[in-house]
Amino acid sequence: MEIFYEIAPLKKKLAALKLQNKTIGFVATMGALHQGHISLVEKSNKENDFTVVSIFVNPTQFNNKEDLEKYPRNLEADFRLLEDNECDMVFAPAVAEMYPEEDTRKFELGDVAQVMEGKYRPGHFNGVCLIVSKLLDIVNPDNAYFGQKDYQQIAVIRAMVKKYMHGFKGNIVSCPIVREKDGLALSSRNSHLDEGQRKSAVIISQTLFKAKELSDKGATCKEIEEFIKKSIATDANLCLEYVEIADKDTLLTIKESKPKNAVICITVYDGKTRLIDNILL
Ligand code: PAF
Repeated sequence: MEIFYEIAPLKKKLAALKLQNKTIGFVATMGALHQGHISLVEKSNKENDFTVVSIFVNPTQFNNKEDLEKYPRNLEADFRLLEDNECDMVFAPAVAEMYPEEDTRKFELGDVAQVMEGKYRPGHFNGVCLIVSKLLDIVNPDNAYFGQKDYQQIAVIRAMVKKYMHGFKGNIVSCPIVREKDGLALSSRNSHLDEGQRKSAVIISQTLFKAKELSDKGATCKEIEEFIKKSIATDANLCLEYVEIADKDTLLTIKESKPKNAVICITVYDGKTRLIDNILL
């Protein structure tokens, strides 16, 4: 596995591989890697000749300084895990390499970037677009893999690529959520949870699974939402930030009484840790 800290040598290496008609798969991460990330690496390895993983805690997508400082970082362990999982190239740049000067681009993507996370984390998706557009530009992969745990992020990235990256011909590939045995969606942030909070966290996915059952039995959006609110409120560690039953493509709130082509997106504070999850109906 080759490790790159700078853009120029990585681009040189990738240009040489492309000249040999090799296909490139790309997984963008912020490190603190877990099995969810590894599932993306595995898929990329299967579908491409070479896999590049980036590890970069992107400051521009944090709208909260403490959250950025607290974000788990463990580069050496990440390298080992990637090496064990047959990743070919890692790109782990410093902040100055990615942002040699302030990047003031503003991405106007409409509702898809303004609802839910867009509303509760202002500026977050603009930061995601800044870094993902730079990374896609550098790696220029045939396929870029993103986890569905960040459901809205994938929709935003697709919209950004369509509107702002006309030269990009690769595919944005959406991959299923990987869960712990008890249902908790894997997240780097789970490492912040203490034992009690970890137990509480299970309620989030269990609530979503039950909500889907209710929906399958014909419940209305209102009934499903009420059930979710009540279920989260049963645990003292949990505090619901929002739950939305939204159209799975536009991400706009479903207006009809029963969900159709819908996704439930939920954000819950477990103690001080902000957890997100979602389920397709
Ligand atoms: O999903 C993430 O980890 C990040 O938002 C991403 C896509 C790596 C951009 O920093």
